[in-house]
Amino acid sequence: MTDPILTARMEANRTDSNTIDRYLETGGYEVLKNALASMTPEQIAEEVKASNMRGRGGAGFPMGVKWGFLADSDPKYLVINGDESEPGTFKDRQLLERDPHQLIEGIVLASYALGVNRAFIYIRGEYPKPARRVQRAIDEAYEKGFLGDDILRSGFSLEVSVHLGGGAYICGEETALLNSLEGRRGEPRLKPPFPAVEGLYARPTIVNNVESISNVPWIVANGGTSYAAIGPERSAGTRMFSLSGHVNKPGNYEIVMGMTWRDLIYDVAGGIRDDRALKTWIPGGASAPWLVPEHLDAPLTIDDATTLGTMLGSGAVVVMDETTDVVKAAHSIVRFFAHESCGQCTPCREGTKWLQDILERILRGEGREKDIDLLLDVSDNISPGLTWPPAMTTICPLGPSATAPILSITRYFLDEVKAYIPVSEVAGV
Ligand SMILES: Cc1cc2nc3c(=O)[nH]c(=O)nc-3n(C[C@H](O)[C@H](O)[C@H](O)COP(=O)(O)O)c2cc1C
Ligand code: SF4
Repeated sequence: MTDPILTARMEANRTDSNTIDRYLETGGYEVLKNALASMTPEQIAEEVKASNMRGRGGAGFPMGVKWGFLADSDPKYLVINGDESEPGTFKDRQLLERDPHQLIEGIVLASYALGVNRAFIYIRGEYPKPARRVQRAIDEAYEKGFLGDDILRSGFSLEVSVHLGGGAYICGEETALLNSLEGRRGEPRLKPPFPAVEGLYARPTIVNNVESISNVPWIVANGGTSYAAIGPERSAGTRMFSLSGHVNKPGNYEIVMGMTWRDLIYDVAGGIRDDRALKTWIPGGASAPWLVPEHLDAPLTIDDATTLGTMLGSGAVVVMDETTDVVKAAHSIVRFFAHESCGQCTPCREGTKWLQDILERILRGEGREKDIDLLLDVSDNISPGLTWPPAMTTICPLGPSATAPILSITRYFLDEVKAYIPVSEVAGV
């Protein structure tokens, strides 16, 4: 088992891993000192590219490749996505709260590599403690000369500030986040143009997840190829997974990808509560189609998840045991998406509400057999073909995400959906 990269300091120092004293004692900011003294921005960008690190915010886009798209025009910005509102996801919270200097060191290294002098950390509004910790860490970093003008006399300057979200899930989508940061309504923008060309204040902008950037100090210290050598080739590195639901040991775990789902659920998370049988699990946040026990021996990689018609998404694994009412579980997720739809696109605004209403009718015992086809028809209008990754009729993937639980219950638990439909409503009776 590879040593942890992201959680090493917080595992060793359970009470004060967030302080600058502890960070400095454990080698913190040494990478930055060395990099500013002896590496060019291009060399850092090359290491990140060589690491094959795929973004941890959900889409899994290679970080180094994304950095290469940043338009060469000043001013440009780096924005850290700490919105973390995907149900079941709580990994960034731990990184923000318990090792904020690791993130800040990553931000300075990334900004130096990208030629950025202004960075923003957008933190979910419901995370007051992580936000306080990050702000304190920023203040400490300014005091010690790791942020501000002429950092460590390198000639490189960087200002960093924290922005708190207002409680909307959609503001985690990178372009809605940029609108929110600009003080506008948090609505996704049509792409292209992509943020790397026209982002914050219409300037070139890189948006990266908290976990993605927290990896940068290790990558620069140890070299991109060392990172790429950890785990499977196209799912390199360690990754934080948030395990929740009916497992014995819920929590965040930093693991090397490539292990099986069985290893993750039964070894890492201690198996199913009260020795019950596993029924299903959500492999990558509420937006991901579910998996079932026949998939337990599949390897946990980004590409294997795609082959199974789902995704690792935000790394949130929600485990459900045999006692779970999957129709109620699906309804709860669909209701979330209907509530969080920003309303710009008709298929999402209307369709998610339709899905919610139909599921509620079924749960009330007033469903009709044709409601199952109706659920799929409405889903098909939001995401034509019902494939995964989804085709989209919408500006952003939130609408298609609402179809994931519908696909899951109709694919794997059709009998349970039908069991809610009164016999008198079943065709031919
Ligand atoms: C509805 C929606 C919500 C999202 N929420 C988050 C989030 O909370 N945190 C995050 O990092 N990315 C989130 N994303 C993905 C971002 O749009 C973006 O891909 C990511 O921040 C890029 O960072 P990465 O390349 O480091 O993964 C969300 C996407 C969508 C469509
Ligand atoms: S898909 Fe939904 S959340 Fe996304 S832009 Fe359209 S209406 Fe808004």
